[in-house]
Formats: sequence, structure tokens, C-alpha cells
Amino acid sequence: MKILFIGDIVSKLGRQTVGKVLPDLRKDANISMVLANAENIAHGKGVTKATLEEVQVYGVDYFTSGNHVFWRKGTSDLLEGNDASLIRPANYPSDIPGQGFKIIDLGKDGKVLLINLLGRTFFNEPVFCPFRAVDKILEDFEGEDFAAIVVDFHAEATSEAVAMGWYLDGRVTAVVGTHRHVPTADAWVLPQGTGFVTDAGMVGARHSVLGVETQIIIDKLKNPQPQKFEWVEEGPAVFNSVLIDVEDGKAKSIERIDKIVK
Ligand SMILES: [Fe+2]
Ligand SMILES: [Fe+2]
Repeated sequence: MKILFIGDIVSKLGRQTVGKVLPDLRKDANISMVLANAENIAHGKGVTKATLEEVQVYGVDYFTSGNHVFWRKGTSDLLEGNDASLIRPANYPSDIPGQGFKIIDLGKDGKVLLINLLGRTFFNEPVFCPFRAVDKILEDFEGEDFAAIVVDFHAEATSEAVAMGWYLDGRVTAVVGTHRHVPTADAWVLPQGTGFVTDAGMVGARHSVLGVETQIIIDKLKNPQPQKFEWVEEGPAVFNSVLIDVEDGKAKSIERIDKIVK
């Protein structure tokens, strides 16, 4: 079974790029399930029903998120209910709306457990320890027969992501990092069979700083005045993802699939 994980989809250009790449890729690579991080899918910050539905038409099945997931009103509704296609980090306090994991039934391919976690290093989010949070989830489902367990570890520090990969090696099928919007070149299968990459990357404007207008970020970094973010919605775009080939719950391989769309 093959699972594609797409990095943070950023704004309208990101969604359009998914539309240009994914339908053919999904067919050609014989992919069973497509996951994507959606925290920036609605004009760079947060999630709306319409933007999720737009990329579902292109072939994304389920969405993880991160520190930007609650930026818009109405997000709670998208996270609630058994048929919700979106999850939020599991290590937010339990009174925060939504679920931090999801069981996805793929029929003949079996059931997949999808888990979302948020890192703590360089973050100022009210989250519990992601290592203990994932232990608890795996403990709760001990003995369950999953075809795959996929973890989106949404983190800032590369060290925290690499440590999580080693922590979960042999216990989950894949640990895929998100949030940095920059694809890392370290996709590999750890010794006990867990596919790992520090960061999947993003889908969004190439002529940008992580999707945002370059001059805005340069001004923000040079000057004390606050800047209003604008997202680049035209020009070439990057499509960053990893393809995980799963056998008996382990990753047989994990390979980057990166494209530039003019
Ligand atoms: Fe992001
Ligand atoms: Fe993020």
C-alpha cells in the first residue's frame, strides 16, 4: 500500500498546485491514501470548509494541521464529528475542540491510524509533551491491527523531529515532519522500519518566503514595525511530498516527490 503525504498547503496557489499535480500522480503511482497538512490552506492561515473540499476534489483524503489550525472562526466545527476529515495536534489540552488522531478504514487495505503532534521547542503553544502524548495513544490502541500508523510531527526544531523519529522507530509506520515549509533531504527508513523525514515541505509559491511575499518578510526582519502578511498567489509553485510504501505495517521505502509547477 502506498501513502502520499503532502507538506503544508499554502493558500490559493497551493491549492491550485495540488490540483495540477495530484490527480495524475495519484493514478500513476497507484496511491491508496493521500494525506496533507492543511494549517495554511485558507489564505495562508487556518482552514475553511470550502478550501478543504477544494483539494479533496483533487484527491486529498485526510488532513493534519498544526499551530495555525485555530486561526479562523468555525474551525471547531470542521474538527468535530466522526466524519471530520481534519485533525489537530493530539497534545493540545483535552478541552480543545477536535481529535488528535483518526482511524481511517481503507477497506481491503485495512485500517490506518493517523496521529498529529505539535513540537514544543521554539513554540509558544499550550501543549503537553508530544512524546508522552503519542505513548498514550499507542498504548490505548495496543493490540489493534493497523495496516499503518502515520504520525505528522509539526515542529520547528529539526532536532526535536529527528528525536521523535528515533523515539517511534519500530512502533509506527512513518513519522513525517511539517511546519517549516522547507523540504529536507533526509527521507529514509530507520533501522526498525519507520519511514522518516524531518520536513515534507510545502505546496505554495516558489518566489516567496515560506509562501509569504518576500519583501514583507525582509522588512519584518530588518525593521521594528509590524508587517501585515500577504501570500504570493501567482508565479511558479513548489509541490513537496513524500511517498511511503507500506508492507506489514512497516515502511518498505519513503521517497521524496517534489515538483516545480510553472
Ligand atoms: Fe505551515
Ligand atoms: Fe505550523
